[in-house]
Amino acid sequence: MTDTLFETETHTFGFSTEQVHAGYLGEAGYGARITPLYLSAGFIFDDFEHAKARFAGTDLGYVYSRINNPTNAAVEKALADLEHGVGATLVGSGQAAATVALLSILQAGDHFLSAPSIYEGTRALFRGNFARFGIEVEFVEHPNDPEDWHRRVRPNTKLFFGEAIPNPKNDLIDIEAIADAAHSHGVPFVIDSTVPTPYLLRPIDYGADVVFHSTSKFLAGHGNSIGGVVIDAGRFDWAAHPDKFPHLHKPVFEEDAQGTTWIDKFGAKANFAYARAVVAGRFGTSLSPFNAFLVQQGIETLSLRLDRHTRNALAIATWLEQQPEVSSVDYPGLASNPFHALAQKYYPRGAGSVFAFTLAGGEASAKVLYDAVEVFTRMTHIGDVRSLILHPPTTTHSKLSQAARDRAGIHPGLLRLSVGIEDVDDLIADLERAFRVLRGENPPSLRGSDAAGAYTPADGL
Ligand SMILES: Cc1ncc(COP(=O)(O)O)c(C=O)c1O
Repeated sequence: MTDTLFETETHTFGFSTEQVHAGYLGEAGYGARITPLYLSAGFIFDDFEHAKARFAGTDLGYVYSRINNPTNAAVEKALADLEHGVGATLVGSGQAAATVALLSILQAGDHFLSAPSIYEGTRALFRGNFARFGIEVEFVEHPNDPEDWHRRVRPNTKLFFGEAIPNPKNDLIDIEAIADAAHSHGVPFVIDSTVPTPYLLRPIDYGADVVFHSTSKFLAGHGNSIGGVVIDAGRFDWAAHPDKFPHLHKPVFEEDAQGTTWIDKFGAKANFAYARAVVAGRFGTSLSPFNAFLVQQGIETLSLRLDRHTRNALAIATWLEQQPEVSSVDYPGLASNPFHALAQKYYPRGAGSVFAFTLAGGEASAKVLYDAVEVFTRMTHIGDVRSLILHPPTTTHSKLSQAARDRAGIHPGLLRLSVGIEDVDDLIADLERAFRVLRGENPPSLRGSDAAGAYTPADGL
């Protein structure tokens, strides 16, 4: 198999074929069908000249697992292919992916614009950590109005940022419109596409320049590991803006003042090369090959899982909408949702499976429902095969002021679901039973009373 399998002129392979075959880079001689787990810190140099060539980059073999590793390389190739990018860098977490994606572009004194509805960890990274480096974030108020982006651009604005399916409110952004607005100012558009994954959305096809994911979620998919990835479209014209991105116009070898620059050497891939070698490589954000192997396993079943996740999510959102205690359901797959038209445009395969709903009874009702579920797991995580539930106002968003929570629509009665791949009837039965508890009824446990008896499907939940 060659790297060009999916780029033939005679046939376009489907996503499910690609997810299974993309990224296979061969192995060291035993005929293993999947790329094995190479747990080795370093890789042998045959002799003096070999070592020299590896460091000079004239021999592209592996050197040291902080920089590159065969297991990671296979997963990076697969993710770059699946996202329609030119290169990917695996890193230790989704937070590390945000850090690498943005710090490869920004430097002290820079300003950037962000959509308002983003993962709270990313917001804290931008507002706290980046501020300490002299990098200023500004949040637009109306992300789907390009004018709101345009009017905030300053001479030192260096990128636009947004989250594809914002967690937990699902207030979708119009990716194409924001990418166009960014490009009209000569800056790239960076997007966190964790919730859709490349199966539901390929942001590069809509103009995004850099895509990142927390692989901890749907890509690994089984709640077994933390990881992240940064993927570059290889399309942004970094060469045209030496004033904005001066680091890419400097020599690759810093000691050699007249040397070849990142732009000279890598062209449109300059940002990818810089992000990988200088930012990820030196900050040391590398992903363990063990976790990369788990991501590889997850990718192979991505479409199957996402089809089930999204089908279950739509059924549950539809059911929740009919419950009298529920004042709103933030799922754009519902025809009643204000973001439904965007969902139809960007997410024809399904609008994800992480969404919030709000109980009119506020925190007191949320607490009862939260404590009553038996199949949903109470946990702060998303994208797991298991269904998960969380109360953001008192957990992920608890450090915000009440006013900030109100602005973000994180009301006291809001609960977030990450809908898994279990049988949807069981998930609805679990919620139905929890709503009966909320209504003051005393429904029997789904687990039954036979705790010491034979195995039931609910064992271990
Ligand atoms: C949308 C989104 N992006 C990024 C992250 C951060 O990922 P990680 O926990 O792998 O650092 C999360 C985590 O919940 C997330 O939901």
